Amino acid sequence: MKRDVTEWMEKTLYGSSMIRGIAEALQKIMNALFLNSPLKPLKTILNGTWLGHPLHPVITDVPVGAWTVAILFDLVALIFGVATLGLASGIAIGLGVLAALAAIVTGLMDWMDVDPPELAVGVTHGLINIIATVLFAISFLVLWSQNWTIGWADFIPALVGYLAVTVGAYIGGSLVFRQGVMINRDAYQHGPDKFVPVLRTDELPDNTPKRVDAKGRPVLLIRRGEDLYAIGAVCSHYGGPLEEGKLVDNQIECPWHSSRFALENGRVKAGPASAPVPQYETRINGRQIEVRERKA
Ligand code: FES
Repeated sequence: MKRDVTEWMEKTLYGSSMIRGIAEALQKIMNALFLNSPLKPLKTILNGTWLGHPLHPVITDVPVGAWTVAILFDLVALIFGVATLGLASGIAIGLGVLAALAAIVTGLMDWMDVDPPELAVGVTHGLINIIATVLFAISFLVLWSQNWTIGWADFIPALVGYLAVTVGAYIGGSLVFRQGVMINRDAYQHGPDKFVPVLRTDELPDNTPKRVDAKGRPVLLIRRGEDLYAIGAVCSHYGGPLEEGKLVDNQIECPWHSSRFALENGRVKAGPASAPVPQYETRINGRQIEVRERKA
């Protein structure tokens, strides 16, 4: 069957040893800098854990919007000879460049946790957008040197940069919508609405996370002395198996990228995850542990 454009890119990009080599080398550097280091809290902030939503896509709209406005100003100035638009175009380009730098940093923080083939596609997305940012920075400097008078010398790099950022945005969209990068892995985990039996009480040792099935929902059960906790067993970040995680205080730490979730309510206590895992009510019925979804 004929491949679509996105499938062709996935195969071609990950198949390229050069792109893969760049991606793996950069990921190693990022891991050394940010994992298990004093910079980890900074990474969590840049991932958007505090916002309850990845920060990167919030920022990326700013350069795309600002540069669209700049290109329109440039076209109007060049076609109709409106000389006064140069400063406005320069402000839009400059704002876009500053926001693009923030987008590059936040994107790197999200990207460093992904696996192949998303790793190679992600690094291509980043490289194309870095090229676009450099081209717009050149356009800004040329415009400035021309005393904010729009001409072909500043418009050409801006136009090429705009084409680049459009391709970069397309690849970024396919990373999310096609490959599922940074989506909430628990978005569709609802129910059960009524208590259902999941495990015998004597099958749950103290302080030993256990994954059970509650009418098709993966639930993590943990007993700590008199307290019994039940939260979603799938990490909302990339689906890490929380039953293989470690208990830290009253939180479970994901074995894949160390996000932490509170046992009492599933809320994120440490990123890179930004969405909570589902929470469940528990009760003992005879010798059975039963759970049901806790409604907010
Ligand atoms: S899968 Fe990434 S922190 Fe759990």
